[in-house]
Parts: sequence; structure tokens; C-alpha cells
Amino acid sequence: TPEKIKLISQNRKVMLAAHRGASEVAPENTLAAIQKALDSPADYIEIDIHQTLDSQLIVMHDATLDRTTNGEGEIAARALAQIKTLDAGSWFKPEFKYEKVPTLEEVLKLVKGRKKLLIELKKGHDFYPGMADETIALLQKYNARNWCVLQSFHDEILQQIWQNEYNVPTHKLIVGKLPMLPVYFDVSFQFGTFDKYYRASAINVHHYFATRGFVKLVHNAGFKTFAWTADDPAEINRLVDRGVDGIMSNAVATLVVQ
Ligand code: G3P
Ligand code: CA
Repeated sequence: TPEKIKLISQNRKVMLAAHRGASEVAPENTLAAIQKALDSPADYIEIDIHQTLDSQLIVMHDATLDRTTNGEGEIAARALAQIKTLDAGSWFKPEFKYEKVPTLEEVLKLVKGRKKLLIELKKGHDFYPGMADETIALLQKYNARNWCVLQSFHDEILQQIWQNEYNVPTHKLIVGKLPMLPVYFDVSFQFGTFDKYYRASAINVHHYFATRGFVKLVHNAGFKTFAWTADDPAEINRLVDRGVDGIMSNAVATLVVQ
């Protein structure tokens, strides 16, 4: 029998987020992966977005087409119509050869508030012009503020989101620097480095750094924290015990919840 995961910590439900959709059973960041995440116990679906040459928002992790499609080159140098001709599934398994690169709009239409959508705004070589405002305009169009969260590693992008008067919840992602990071984090908090993120509701971190001490520091500073990515049930249960508020996992379609 598969080991079960527990999502209750100190009488609090820990959120489970499908990382790039249910990316263990379907090609990451495709409608197939998102549909499988909708059918899973996940509370959130995490996706990554980039902007095409003609300013359309598409769902993909990398800034280039090479790894997850049969195309190549920078997303920023291609128009949506061209990207839509590509096969975004065969690299994962031949049966997914009809999967296309979804637009953010297609994902919003599919999810429709049935689960929360955690949208990570990426950059290419450069920041994408107007990306934050374009993203927020789409959330407005689909009345999605109550079921979407915007997250980014980049302070410039978070600033743009915060400048927009349509108030969407945000999470700050922090980068890991092995092996010094736990110390770096603690010091950062003590000296108030994270104060500037007061408009974010969570500081999200690689699971390696989501120690009890880190979780306590983040909580004391008034933030929640989601950790990415844990697929192994034992690791997920450990993160629950450490008190994180959310766990991003590729394995949501196969995890069995206690
Ligand atoms: O959501 C956090 C996590 O997805 C960040 O890393 O590279 O998988 O987008 P990455
Ligand atoms: Ca991501």
C-alpha cells in the first residue's frame, strides 16, 4: 500500500499545490496536466508564465521552447500563432503529442475557480514589457482575484503587481544558495531584509530550506510559506511537521491523502 500523506499540522490544513500541474503524470504546464491536477486532491495549481513576441501570455516553465516543445528559440522572439503549431507533449510521452502550449487565458477558462491558481511570472533574457498589467487584466476579465495568487522571484515584477490598483494576492519566491542559505535567511530576517515584501502574504522557499527555524521566522514576520517541490510522501509529511503552510508537488495525481 502506498504511504499516505497527512495535510493537517497543529489543526491547520496544509495546502497542496500541483507543481506545473500534475506534472508527474502529464507534460508540465499543459492543459492535460492541469486537468489531472483538477481531478487530484490538490488545493492549488502552480503554473509558470512567459510573454510572446505579440504580448500574449503563455504557460511554460523555460524562457525557450527547446525542452518542452518540438520548437526552438526564445518565447519572446515568437508570435503566439507560431507557438500554437508546436507539440508540447511528445517530449514527455508520445500519447501527449496533441498537447499545445496553453495561454494563460485558456487555463483561467479551464480552472474557473474550481481550485486556486498560483501563477509564477517568469522573465526571459529581459523582463517582459507590461507583463504584470497584462496578467492582472486577464484576472479581471475572468473575475479571478479570489482564486488566483501571483508569485515571482523578481522584485521588479512584484513591484509592478503591487502598483496595479486591482489588488491580487502575491507570494515572494526566494532563491536558494547552497549550502549557506539557512544562515543567510536567518540573518536576512533579523536585519529586516524581508520587510519590503510586506504586501506579499507568503515567502516561498525550496523545501531544503524549509526547516522548523525558517518556518518560525517567516511566521513571526507575519508571512506564510509554501515549499517546493516534494514528491516523496515521507518528505511531504516532514514538511507538514515543520509547519509549512503549503507544499508544491509534482506528484499530486498519485499521492494518497490520509
Ligand atoms: O513555485 C516555485 C517553484 O516552481 C519555483 O521554481 O523553477 O519550478 O519555477 P521553478
Ligand atoms: Ca514555478
